Amino acid sequence: MALTRFNGFELLAWDFNPRWAMRSSISTVGIGFAGCLCHNLFNLPLNTMTVASSPAWTVRLANFILGIKPLFNIMKGRARSMMINRAEEMGVLWRSEAANLQSMDWLADFEAVNNPSLVYPEYYLKPFHAYDNGNLGWEPATEVELAAYAVHARIWEPQSVEGDPKLRESFNQVLRSALPGGVQSIVDLGCSVGMSTFALQDTFPGSTLTGVDLSPYFLAVARHRSRLRQSDKGNGLQIPDRPSAQTPPTWVHAAAESTGLEAGNYDLVAACLVFHELPRDAALAILQEAKRLVKPGGMVAIMDMNPQSAVFAKMPPYVLTLLKSTEPYLDQYFGVDLVQEFERLGFSQVRSMENSPRHRTVIATR
Ligand SMILES: C[S@@+](CC[C@H](N)C(=O)[O-])C[C@H]1O[C@@H](n2cnc3c(N)ncnc32)[C@H](O)[C@@H]1O
Repeated sequence: MALTRFNGFELLAWDFNPRWAMRSSISTVGIGFAGCLCHNLFNLPLNTMTVASSPAWTVRLANFILGIKPLFNIMKGRARSMMINRAEEMGVLWRSEAANLQSMDWLADFEAVNNPSLVYPEYYLKPFHAYDNGNLGWEPATEVELAAYAVHARIWEPQSVEGDPKLRESFNQVLRSALPGGVQSIVDLGCSVGMSTFALQDTFPGSTLTGVDLSPYFLAVARHRSRLRQSDKGNGLQIPDRPSAQTPPTWVHAAAESTGLEAGNYDLVAACLVFHELPRDAALAILQEAKRLVKPGGMVAIMDMNPQSAVFAKMPPYVLTLLKSTEPYLDQYFGVDLVQEFERLGFSQVRSMENSPRHRTVIATR
């Protein structure tokens, strides 16, 4: 019997990391409530209990526990402080960095990016990543970068804050080899605070970048970050923004499924770690929009969790249920075959390549 264990209380992360699941123990949570049931639920051996073999009661139990608001809130708070403490142990000064960003006056940046007439899709208004307002607030906007460093630190051993840049580099390496002649114009769909946008800009120097996101809070932070890059100040994090003399990206507050950008104008349309946040219909609509945006002969590239990786393929259904409490569309993401969808839309040279032990990049040529 495998000894690996799963701790559902650490699911409130931005990007699921199964190592957390395997390393943790329910005893750290210290909640007496339903202790016996929880013990059975959370100490199920992860690598022997799969979708096929896991009994339905585990899913019902997971749903039951998540449905008890006070318990869920305790789990949420506990998971959050565990993530912050671990980040700080690795040298990501979460509390001070977030406090520093939260103390700033964001009005000018917010007004510069905000599209007040934008109507948000219904699915975007749900709680995400344990933030009640999802991505629409200053707390997630000022913490998302810190969470990325903390979560991606665990992709490779030894764990380090270099995990996030390594993940981005693994994606950009795929792009460089697929586009050896470089590119001139790039759209980064779901650009958040700009981490993926800046990585793309550094990969293809001289290109013009457009970042699209539904969160004006995230875009305001992205705008601030691009100013820092320009002024060569770095951002004060342990891994500072690389200074960049390049033209700052244009930040567009829009849905990726209807960006309003000019058709057939981009050599590369990228979406990095976005699709797992989308319901199926939105994912398919964004593929359509990507097709509209990309030049003939240009490329669309999607990097995200790899449903075929051993980790996710073996995910027990109760784990998925718990994950859904913070990643509400994860099951829908796992159900979309991106390669098939690209082919259906008439793209050619559609390929899926692993770029980390749990991420893959799907690229397709228009
Ligand atoms: C997990 S973050 C990834 C951010 C970034 N690409 C990166 O690699 O760090 C997902 C981003 O997608 C954005 N997003 C989700 N659905 C969207 C949509 N329909 N249109 C535009 N942005 C969306 C969210 O606001 C969030 O900033």
